[in-house]
Amino acid sequence: MTVKIAPSILAADFARLGEIVALLETAGADMVHVDVMDGHFVPNITIGVPVVAALRKVTRLPLDVHLMITDPDRFLEAFVGAGASVVTVHAEVLPHLHRTLTRIRQLGARAGVALNPSTPVAAIGDVTSEIDQLVIMSVNPGFSGQSFIARSLDKIAAARSLLAANGSRADIEVDGGVDVANAAAIVAAGATVLVAGAAVFGAADPAAAVNALRAAAAR
Ligand code: DX5
Ligand code: ZN
Repeated sequence: MTVKIAPSILAADFARLGEIVALLETAGADMVHVDVMDGHFVPNITIGVPVVAALRKVTRLPLDVHLMITDPDRFLEAFVGAGASVVTVHAEVLPHLHRTLTRIRQLGARAGVALNPSTPVAAIGDVTSEIDQLVIMSVNPGFSGQSFIARSLDKIAAARSLLAANGSRADIEVDGGVDVANAAAIVAAGATVLVAGAAVFGAADPAAAVNALRAAAAR
């Protein structure tokens, strides 16, 4: 299976988002990962619906919208309407996860669920049929540039087993601290999508960094 690379614009210069997504397209990125934070669920505030709508106008790449917000149900329609291709919500804030995922699909987007490092994969055991993308957080969400939590490798493997046992071929996206040094191990554990912020935008040549990650993931 080909691994998808989803650079996170959280690590990019927000004043240059238009040229950055153009660069990512040229570099062959598969999706643009958009980190939405509300200052409640995570200790940081970033961007929201208007920025997703603005990005939608300037790129054909799928927009992979990661909602790190306390009440995602209130905003699903707005994000899908703005052009989100995938909407990922956090299991930790959703008592009615099945309903939320069903709603995302009804709205016409792919449904994603993210699990914080402290949330067991069993949290999605009863909704595997409703998931298009499972996001394993390999850092505590909130900031780019943190180190990959090593234990996440076992968790990715456990997630892949759980999905397979339920007949699901959902993508597993790994988010946080992904770089050329750990990409191969992450893919070997069962990941199909790699998010990368600092590894792409902290590099002198972000386009070359996307290619380096793809090559590392194929090893
Ligand atoms: C973390 C975000 C990530 C982050 C990844 O809260 O959800 O998407 O931007 O950035 P790196 O790759 O730098 O850890
Ligand atoms: Zn993210």
